Amino acid sequence: MERQWSFSVKSTRALALIITTISSAIVFLTFFSNSLIRSNSSLYPTTDSNFQIDLSPIASISDSSLVSSRASQILVSTRFNPPENTSGSAKIPGFEQKARGGESFVKEDQVIIANLTSIKVIELPSNNGDEEKKKKKKGIEECDVTKGKWVHDDEYPLYTNASCPFIDEGFGCQTNGRLDLNYTKFRWEPRDCDAPRFNATRMLEMIRGKRLVFVGDSINRNQWESMLCMLFQAVKDPKKVYETHNRRITKEKGNYSFRFADYKCTVEFYVTHFLVREGRAKIGKKRRETLRIDAMDRTSSRWKGADILVFNTAHWWSHYKTKSGINYYQEGNEIHPKLDVSTAFKKAMQTWSSWVDKNVDPKKTRVFFRSAAPSHFSGGQWNSGGHCREAKKPLNQTFKLSDSAGKNTIVEEVLKQMKTPVTPLNVSGLSQYRIDAHPSIYGVKPENRRSQAVQDCSHWCLPGVPDTWNHLLYLHLLHKR
Ligand SMILES: *[C@@H]1O[C@H](CO)[C@@H](O)[C@H](O)[C@H]1NC(C)=O
Ligand SMILES: *[C@@H]1O[C@H](CO)[C@@H](O)[C@H](O)[C@H]1NC(C)=O
Ligand SMILES: *[C@@H]1O[C@H](CO)[C@@H](O)[C@H](O)[C@H]1NC(C)=O
Ligand SMILES: *[C@@H]1O[C@H](CO)[C@@H](O)[C@H](O)[C@H]1NC(C)=O
Ligand SMILES: *[C@@H]1O[C@H](CO)[C@@H](O)[C@H](O)[C@H]1NC(C)=O
Ligand SMILES: *[C@@H]1O[C@H](CO)[C@@H](O)[C@H](O)[C@H]1NC(C)=O
Ligand SMILES: *[C@@H]1O[C@H](CO)[C@@H](O)[C@H](O)[C@H]1NC(C)=O
Ligand SMILES: *[C@@H]1O[C@H](CO)[C@@H](O)[C@H](O)[C@H]1NC(C)=O
Repeated sequence: MERQWSFSVKSTRALALIITTISSAIVFLTFFSNSLIRSNSSLYPTTDSNFQIDLSPIASISDSSLVSSRASQILVSTRFNPPENTSGSAKIPGFEQKARGGESFVKEDQVIIANLTSIKVIELPSNNGDEEKKKKKKGIEECDVTKGKWVHDDEYPLYTNASCPFIDEGFGCQTNGRLDLNYTKFRWEPRDCDAPRFNATRMLEMIRGKRLVFVGDSINRNQWESMLCMLFQAVKDPKKVYETHNRRITKEKGNYSFRFADYKCTVEFYVTHFLVREGRAKIGKKRRETLRIDAMDRTSSRWKGADILVFNTAHWWSHYKTKSGINYYQEGNEIHPKLDVSTAFKKAMQTWSSWVDKNVDPKKTRVFFRSAAPSHFSGGQWNSGGHCREAKKPLNQTFKLSDSAGKNTIVEEVLKQMKTPVTPLNVSGLSQYRIDAHPSIYGVKPENRRSQAVQDCSHWCLPGVPDTWNHLLYLHLLHKR
């Protein structure tokens, strides 16, 4: 795989300067507002020692009226093959390092000029610079990243079915035959701040020597697989990523721990639909399934000691899946003859929060709780012919969050009363636009597809929306340590 790294330039102001300077036969690197830096986790140089700059047309400047389309074919690219025309393969480690760091290297209104011996950042003459600075967006730490919009981004997806071996059948829409791939090309853009792009290397460095643990239902498996895929793009030797017990990801098995050997970290997933313990109890003469809303899931001993914990639970708290609450919820030896879902959910969340307060050391561990991800069934529910197949693009507006919102409110209240700080990962609103991004019929291989009527409008195709949830997780880790 050729790894290449490029920047595109969109300002006409810059062009005049660029052209002038090119004629003096010097090498240029141009950066603009951080958001325009076209860099991507999977697109970084493969060698650390040598940095060569080559001039070949790669970026086109679209919104330029001053420059002819030919002239606008200006390139500023860095590549690691010896370029023909630049006798100077510039070795500028300091620059490389800063440039790779990406985010806040060069400001708006600045241009970098580099030759073999020196690098200079210069201010661009600008008449509206002051105005632009006033509008400058907030730092990520003081901005509500849930407010924003989905924008088309040609550098998305961050990985493909071919570059990630961890996508299981249920989320492998492309492998299962989905042909329209526009849904993979959207990036969430917060309205009030510039969010740095996801940088897999940086994420791996942040979790070096640590355990990143996802605990929850299959939607958290969705997010966990996405995280594996995103991180995998920064790994040079695929053999150095492996499941510690050689387990293959399937829907059935629930405990996985993938080790990224070069970073001595693990990215783990424990399935537990309710966070609290599913079990059995004798009711009358029969043993029946119950849910212990006063006790944690049996795998909880395994989550202890994690450095980052990402919890979720939501979808299973429905009347259907909880036997309508009749003889289902259990506390101690008592089985509630009938209990409504909200009350049971609240009790379970309190059980969970006590466990966290008791077992998690906030100095060591960061805890996240991901909000409910919306489903998008039309014309029925998941078990009654609901569908979402027709959707090829995101909704342009969203409606009041349904069922899941009630649970979000309960979670919010429980979090407020906790001793341990827990960061809510609020994905509900932004995911609600993405009716286009569910597997629908492509959650199963064509040969296993029994009926077009069964559609999955709850989980998410990978690559896809869970990549954004992980991007938010990354932003939190990056800025609120
Ligand atoms: C090298 O430069 C010459 C003259 O500037 C140009 O004609 C030629 O196309 C360039 N070659 C490459 C590979 O860019
Ligand atoms: C990604 O992060 C690594 C490690 O912090 C850094 O060296 C690299 O330059 C970054 N890449 C980009 C494209 O910002
Ligand atoms: C590189 O740029 C510096 C400052 O702009 C200049 O003094 C120097 O002569 C240049 N070196 C070469 C080899 O062009
Ligand atoms: C990726 O999806 C395409 C269909 O779009 C398929 O031909 C290819 O085999 C898939 N690759 C993998 C590795 O599953
Ligand atoms: C996919 O996106 C491209 C480019 O934005 C657009 O031309 C095309 O119509 C879109 N396809 C669908 C099915 O929306
Ligand atoms: C997951 O771990 C729990 C706790 O150690 C264990 O009881 C359970 O059998 C494991 N499940 C699987 C599928 O390995
Ligand atoms: C959203 O899209 C629908 C149909 O695609 C259109 O009728 C409606 O006016 C749009 N709403 C907004 C707010 O753009
Ligand atoms: C989550 O984000 C949505 C959309 O911005 C917002 O409406 C909702 O109130 C947020 N929920 C919480 C708990 O912050």
